[in-house]
Amino acid sequence: NKLYGLLGHPVGHSMSPLMHNDAFTHLGMKGYYHAFDVPEVELKEAVDAFRLLNISGFNVTIPHKVAIMNLLDEIDEEAVMIGAVNTVVNMDGRYIGYNTDGRGYLTSLLKTIDRPLHECNVLVIGAGGAARGVATVLANEGVALLTIANRTITKAIEIKDNYQSYRHANITVVSMSEAEDNLGLYDIVINTTSIGMSPNVNDVPISIQHAKPSVVLSDLIYNPILTKWLIQGEAKGLKTHNGVGMFVEQGALAFQLWTGKYPDTERMTELVRKQLG
Ligand code: ATR
Repeated sequence: NKLYGLLGHPVGHSMSPLMHNDAFTHLGMKGYYHAFDVPEVELKEAVDAFRLLNISGFNVTIPHKVAIMNLLDEIDEEAVMIGAVNTVVNMDGRYIGYNTDGRGYLTSLLKTIDRPLHECNVLVIGAGGAARGVATVLANEGVALLTIANRTITKAIEIKDNYQSYRHANITVVSMSEAEDNLGLYDIVINTTSIGMSPNVNDVPISIQHAKPSVVLSDLIYNPILTKWLIQGEAKGLKTHNGVGMFVEQGALAFQLWTGKYPDTERMTELVRKQLG
């Protein structure tokens, strides 16, 4: 039996154990996934213990996604660009760090949009860890225009400067109010902030008054499944994309890195939706 885990704090509400254990059972594989609640000061000890137990792989979540990087043997290039690791693979005793959040997001988004990504003008709202994941894969995939808006504009400029040293991606930075006024420029608008997340379900990240009719509004939040912002979008007849898909796909990609098998994501989505109520 192979053991897999999650390192985070807190982890009590995580749906990852449910999702991965169901996938192991469904595929007839001998694997078990357990969530470990580990505070920041004990992260190194936890990783040492994982090594001792020869844990086959694990996920990393808040608050450890950045700190874990110093405790691993190797880090995948895209995870380096994002500056965070959410998945670790045991390769013959060496722990390799990956980031499946960005790719997971992309996989889910591509199922929703009906235009090629490279023709799309994309607005990313936020400049934290989640924004870095999304912006990195979009810059790597190539979009027509990538714009980042954030309350603290210096953080958006940091992301832009970081990527332009890697790729010659077309990235611009705007203030939140400029983004609102020029929202009609964008084909995809992505909320990566926590604005609208339970329990603050009445907040919205940006006014959609000037959105174009063909826009896709995408929110990384999955609790609630439909944020107030997406509800507003649907009321206007806009296409929306919620965070359930990203959560499922990041898990599926991690599962694939660990086992070589891509799990049934429709089944995972059902499970997660049921859990979220
Ligand atoms: P995560 O890893 O989830 O992205 P984070 O790194 O703490 O979390 O980033 C949070 C993001 O949400 C930031 O872009 C933050 O804006 P600032 O950089 O200005 O702090 C944004 N954010 C969170 N709460 C916000 C609020 N009430 N209004 C505007 N932006 C907010």
